[in-house]
Amino acid sequence: MKNKASKSDPRKTRKASRGGPKPPGTPHGGLLVQRLVTGREAESVRRHSGRLPSLLLNPRQASDLELISCGGFSPLTGFMGEADYRSVLKQMKIESGLLWSLPILLDVPKAFFEKTKPNTAIALAVPQGARTIGVMAVREKFVRNREAEAAAVFSTTDPAHPGVKALLDSSEYVLAGPVTLFEPVPHDDFQPQRLAPAQTREIFREKGWNTIVAFQTRNPIHRAHEYLQKCALEVVDGLLLHPIVGETKSDDVPAEVRMRCYEVLLEKYYPAQRVLLAVNPAYMRYGGPREAVFHALVRKNFGCTHFIVGRDHAGVGKFYGPFDAQHLLRSLPPEDLGIQPLYFDATFYCRICGNCASEKTCPHDESARLNLSGTRVRQMLAAGENLPVEFSRPEVAEILREAYRAADAGA
Ligand code: ADX
Repeated sequence: MKNKASKSDPRKTRKASRGGPKPPGTPHGGLLVQRLVTGREAESVRRHSGRLPSLLLNPRQASDLELISCGGFSPLTGFMGEADYRSVLKQMKIESGLLWSLPILLDVPKAFFEKTKPNTAIALAVPQGARTIGVMAVREKFVRNREAEAAAVFSTTDPAHPGVKALLDSSEYVLAGPVTLFEPVPHDDFQPQRLAPAQTREIFREKGWNTIVAFQTRNPIHRAHEYLQKCALEVVDGLLLHPIVGETKSDDVPAEVRMRCYEVLLEKYYPAQRVLLAVNPAYMRYGGPREAVFHALVRKNFGCTHFIVGRDHAGVGKFYGPFDAQHLLRSLPPEDLGIQPLYFDATFYCRICGNCASEKTCPHDESARLNLSGTRVRQMLAAGENLPVEFSRPEVAEILREAYRAADAGA
């Protein structure tokens, strides 16, 4: 295993996190975790896995496994145990005291939970072909309280919230322990853009970027998003455009369509030498403020120094106030976060200014401003209407219109 410090014992990685603030770009906790082994070690883990009871992960669990194994969730080396879990819910920190905002748990069916004993190991199979790709050393097992978890993480227990619904639908029985993969999580899409943190860090080094802003998104990039990114690009060296391509709500635009939008937009409107497009295999939790903290920490692990947070980051419906995520991030000691958030007001296109702006920069009233809600955009696309050029670049609007038309014809 490359990263000796992270080997099997999660406490070893945590120790590295002590000792004061780290320079920008340092992974969360100080070391980039690497739980994918190669060569002889991989062969030995593979052989061992064949003798173990096997657990078939669902797509979300496979996504978490991928992010743990590549270091996107550093300092986590596996699925969380009960002490970390409780500490995250209560004080947004893992037990060592390091900031961490969301539980990363491996929930299993009751029967599997009952027959699995601590201090044994299980094989982990991913949904892609039910292929076994790794093992987990089971350190402990516990029963979670899903209602309390929902209240702490999502600030609501309302099942109309998609994150709460997914949580309530999952099992309350949890296994925990460090993971080791002998093969990466397999994918057949977005291959060139599937970059692990070690790779994005290497690319940033090669490009000579010292300051890198990350942009989290689950949506096509419209003019307001572009404005935020380009404002940020005026003051940092590079942009990591890092869309989430794990599970999203069924009415969000599918990742494959969004990727085409990102590619055409970058090609036509962005300086190629200052932008890196990579996909984030995470799924959306729609956890608003807590997920914003999580998004920032994960991008820190990918090597970014700055992180854009605008209106209703990772929000859904009316569950969070438009600036709740910003309030939570601002309340955290900067050295605990270790990545600099760049906060933006709600942005829109102003017809009188003739450009994108926010309350901070535009003196005109509502009637001059073009603000389309996600629902209105979906309605317009469903009706085959053109999105205004002030809202969306024509090339992006065309891809979306075509995708809606095709979906409609197939329905
Ligand atoms: S999110 O769930 O990933 O946050 P989305 O892809 O829409 O959703 O947003 C990506 C980022 O852009 C978030 O930081 C969000 O706050 C910001 N954002 C989106 N639209 C606007 C807007 N009109 N004004 C300001 N910030 C925005």
